[in-house]
Amino acid sequence: MLENKIQVAPSILSADLGHLADELRFIDGAGYVHFDAMDGHFVPNLTFGPGVLAAVKSATQTPVDAHLMISNPDQMVPEYLAAGADVVTFHYEATSHANRLANLIREKGAKAGVAINPGTPVSVLDAIVEDVDLVLVMTVNPGFGGQKFIPGSLRKIRQVKAMCAERHVAPIIEVDGGISPTNAADVCAAGATLLVAGSAVFGKANRANAIRKITEAGESGLVRRA
Ligand code: DX5
Ligand code: ZN
Repeated sequence: MLENKIQVAPSILSADLGHLADELRFIDGAGYVHFDAMDGHFVPNLTFGPGVLAAVKSATQTPVDAHLMISNPDQMVPEYLAAGADVVTFHYEATSHANRLANLIREKGAKAGVAINPGTPVSVLDAIVEDVDLVLVMTVNPGFGGQKFIPGSLRKIRQVKAMCAERHVAPIIEVDGGISPTNAADVCAAGATLLVAGSAVFGKANRANAIRKITEAGESGLVRRA
């Protein structure tokens, strides 16, 4: 069943950026490549933009999941779509026109995602959950790789899952930040199916093995779902 397919999205934020094309050759089993765009404004850190996304697309067949940690995403979303992003996820906190933006992304044939920071309540998704293909529950405050998973995130994942069930929609529930084989079962038991992992993949010598371990741990959490 598609709903129960656990996928890992390695975040290239933790990859060796000097050898990015090589890094992308060794992520067998990944569902998506997770692309963290940061603007030094919405989050304190600054990373890469649509030009690098286009380069990633040309280096891998794996679909690209663009996580836009940027202010005014309305301005830049068309650029990420043109660069070939398969999923475009914007932050709810960063736009006043979430539904319009989600519709634009879908019209261009990509999956539309909405992300919420740890400090943002799940209730804000009430007006957008029917317009998106993916909900990203941040499990750290965005900006940096290698941070510690916030345990209170589990309750938020369960709330998103319950809201979606009540509304008869089934967006992908993605989690991002501090994910490892240790907590993958818990986040999947709570409702997540797409697990972003930066340091837990690119911090390991054998990336494919790391991806498999996270996937298997996630799958073991599915049986705990009520
Ligand atoms: C954090 C980014 C994450 C980050 C995750 O702001 O959105 O995607 O790369 O890194 P880890 O898995 O190391 O916490
Ligand atoms: Zn991310």
